[in-house]
Amino acid sequence: MIDKIAIDGPAASGKTTLAKLLAEELDFLFFDTGVMYRAVTLAALQNNTPIEDESAITALAQKLQIDVRPPSKDDGRSDDVLIDGIDQTWAIRQPEVDSRVSEVSAYAGVRKALSEQQRRIGMRGMVVMAGRDIGTVILPEADLKIYLVASVEERARRRHKECIERGENMTYESVLEGMRMRDEIDSTREVAPLQPAEDAVILDSDDKDIATVFEAAMSLMNGARKTDSD
Ligand code: CDP
Repeated sequence: MIDKIAIDGPAASGKTTLAKLLAEELDFLFFDTGVMYRAVTLAALQNNTPIEDESAITALAQKLQIDVRPPSKDDGRSDDVLIDGIDQTWAIRQPEVDSRVSEVSAYAGVRKALSEQQRRIGMRGMVVMAGRDIGTVILPEADLKIYLVASVEERARRRHKECIERGENMTYESVLEGMRMRDEIDSTREVAPLQPAEDAVILDSDDKDIATVFEAAMSLMNGARKTDSD
């Protein structure tokens, strides 16, 4: 039985969209782990905790209450993200968070605090989890692991479009630059670096629309189900 699905990959590779569609199709929980790293980063920026201060940032990650609930507003959000009870759904997507989140998520103590919660939820099963280290660290026992890739230029184009739609005045070049920086930090950090699990299937979403990627993922699902019942 397929019970746990891991979707990993770099920024704007389409993880969230694919994971959401799969979760809907299977009636599973969708869990976007990036939200948690973003929440810690936002809280640090808001209360002026220096991002360089590893022990203060780790303490923040340990005490922060992060909740994800069904959407309370019809403004394009797929969930409400509450940090210590306050709705921060859009605030965690700000460019300021984008530019510092990879530093925060490289801290071992932060990862430990957040990954314990992630694993607890993942182990309940019937879940599609998206992130960077789901297949390698959080849920190595996942029944299906997909690692989504796309060129950095294509990913920057997608993210730039999202920013413009939200009314943020960013240039394509600055989005591309930020994305390159984040890829570099995420894939070279010591703890849980971004990399495909050995048993992950790599899907390239360059030049593919979401329907095509979803179809490819569903046929992997069906293949895994079949092997399972053989
Ligand atoms: O949506 P996008 O792909 O831009 O990023 P995200 O999934 O929201 O993740 C934001 C950042 O959190 C990433 O750049 C990583 O630094 C970190 N992250 C991580 O280290 N491990 C995860 N499982 C998920 C996110």
